[in-house]
Amino acid sequence: MKNALVIGATSGIGKELSGLLVADGYKVVITGRRENLLQEIKATDSEKYVIKVHDVNNLTSCDTLFLDLKNEFKTIDLIVYSSGVGDPNYELEWEKELPTLQTNIIAATKIYGLAYNFFRKQGYGHLVGISSIASIRGNRHVPAYFASKAFQANYLESLWMKGKRSKAEIYVTDIQPGFVDTPMAIGKTFWMASTEKATKQIYTAIKQKRKKAYITKRWRMVAFVLRNAPSSLLFKFT
Ligand SMILES: NC(=O)c1ccc[n+]([C@@H]2O[C@H](COP(=O)([O-])OP(=O)(O)OC[C@H]3O[C@@H](n4cnc5c(N)ncnc54)[C@H](OP(=O)(O)O)[C@@H]3O)[C@@H](O)[C@H]2O)c1
Repeated sequence: MKNALVIGATSGIGKELSGLLVADGYKVVITGRRENLLQEIKATDSEKYVIKVHDVNNLTSCDTLFLDLKNEFKTIDLIVYSSGVGDPNYELEWEKELPTLQTNIIAATKIYGLAYNFFRKQGYGHLVGISSIASIRGNRHVPAYFASKAFQANYLESLWMKGKRSKAEIYVTDIQPGFVDTPMAIGKTFWMASTEKATKQIYTAIKQKRKKAYITKRWRMVAFVLRNAPSSLLFKFT
């Protein structure tokens, strides 16, 4: 049986993806801060889910988590970092920016590094990060979130390059969703994909060991436009 670790699996994409992995025969370690939600998920298939109550912003406990997993499971085939936060911050209040930087940059880097080195020592493995279409350009309403996603996308590309050069068989996938109808999404907007549809496409990209995938697929077109639009035009629409 293959083992997977999904960090940030109490809701949204992480929860849905964990369900697809379990249905596909994986044993899945699910993490998050809300123990009641982890318990609810485990109750749906207690043999296949293992729960770890874990706050990624406690960096020491990230080390402990990986040590525990090594002892309990010996090997892990797939690690997904789905934890993420980000709120609009019109007044640039530091109290709002900081959690985004902590969760999406500091903790993400910590987990990416632990995962990569776990796979290097093990000789194989697949790391998946969920950045965003937001990684491509800036946004005046949610600056820390957009910048943190750019960081994630670049870091994941760096790890992809390292994996290619490594003697170990390491795959790295950067998932770039547009709008997905999860608790994180604020209100209704255009091209909002259901969590089910988006996550099915994410799992397909994982199985194909893609370097990068836009979710849903139509966001590839938006990515192209965003990458090439001059700032003078972009700021009029964002
Ligand atoms: N929804 C979208 O439109 C969209 C678009 C592009 C990218 N994304 C990205 O997709 C990823 C998943 O988001 P989602 O849409 O599925 O949102 P979500 O339903 O709000 O899920 C976020 C997950 O992150 C976990 N998390 C947050 N802070 C954490 C912490 N300190 N320690 C551990 N876990 C933490 C939450 O668990 P606990 O609260 O229980 O800890 C939860 O399981 C995020 O990285 C997000 O930026 C989402």
